Amino acid sequence: MAKRTRIFKMDTIGTDDSTFHDMIMEAAGVIGHGGVVAFPTETVYGLGANALDTTAVQKIFEAKGRPVDNPLIVHIASKQQCIELAENIPEKAFILMDMFWPGPLTLILKRKDIVPDVTTGGLDTVALRMPDNRIALSLIRASGKAIAAPSANLSGKPSPTTAQHVISDLSGRIDIIIDGGPVRVGVESTVIDMTLPIPVILRPGKVSIEELEAGIGHVSIGYGDKELPGTTVPRSPGMKYTHYSPNARVVLIEGEAMDVTRKIQDMLAGYGHAKVEVALLLTDGSMDVIDHQKRLSMGSGDRPDEIAFNLFAGLRSLDTEDTKTIIVDGSFSRKGVGTAVSNRIHKAAYSIINV
Ligand code: TXA
Ligand code: MG
Repeated sequence: MAKRTRIFKMDTIGTDDSTFHDMIMEAAGVIGHGGVVAFPTETVYGLGANALDTTAVQKIFEAKGRPVDNPLIVHIASKQQCIELAENIPEKAFILMDMFWPGPLTLILKRKDIVPDVTTGGLDTVALRMPDNRIALSLIRASGKAIAAPSANLSGKPSPTTAQHVISDLSGRIDIIIDGGPVRVGVESTVIDMTLPIPVILRPGKVSIEELEAGIGHVSIGYGDKELPGTTVPRSPGMKYTHYSPNARVVLIEGEAMDVTRKIQDMLAGYGHAKVEVALLLTDGSMDVIDHQKRLSMGSGDRPDEIAFNLFAGLRSLDTEDTKTIIVDGSFSRKGVGTAVSNRIHKAAYSIINV
């Protein structure tokens, strides 16, 4: 049965305001009683429950329709909480905490027994992250709990970067949605496994490999091609599922900007009357040249931060009932967060064309 989902609008309220305090206390109370609350982080919106309460965490899986073997990231607000949940924490992990927390970096560490199986998907490790968002941190502190939170979308859909996205996916399924306005980053945190002598990046994100290596030396890459069966690299259980996909089929065109633009123009011509069923997710460069009824730009191709900020929202807004195909201009830079953007579009794509 559908439940009543309350929306707390907090995007324009200052932390000094008593309303801010009241809403956080109310949401924290719901977390404390085993409820489920969607809240903003700096990366994407999360769907949170008390990480140590099995029944509460199960509600997250039910609301999202998420496979139960896909573990959750546990959000904390202090290093002390990290030490309560993880053991054998290596020195390199502490270095990364000092460099990047609060921020978009998730550390995989050996778990302590108090972390229930439902939260870790039965693994002997736990994913921990301290989000860089005043609402998220206030909620964690006020509840006095570590908060398990996957992205607040229906399983398989693009991650939510605004409260409106969460409302359209999860309204009627959860207790509270906190509207903190649009997120800052737009793609999820970098996930790095710290349990091995050479740490392994399991998911690229806002924190780049160069930034990680500046802090702790060599790290290896456990996503992308090296994710293929038969490798010995550990994998995130989540990586085997379809992800980030709108209902329409995503076709990704990769190559140099001019070649990609030409390819998209050729494809449009080939669609003939069926053109009306095609939407384009472009860069500023291709947007200048390609005329089409349904098109959006993610931003400048040499500014991966802009592309990251607009990717998921762009996929969602073009995914209307009459859209069968979304063609994405993949000519943007892979520098910095560009690697993560490319990773997400690859996962969302039905087909990939190299030109
Ligand atoms: O930015 C983010 O990380 C957002 C915000 C809400 O914090 N959260 C997020 O959670 O993206 P989710 O559940 O959508 O993705 C978590 C990823 C999954 O790929 C999952 O398999 C992996 O982290 N993961 C979680 N625990 C793990 C573990 N113990 N070992 C390996 N991978 C793990
Ligand atoms: Mg997710």
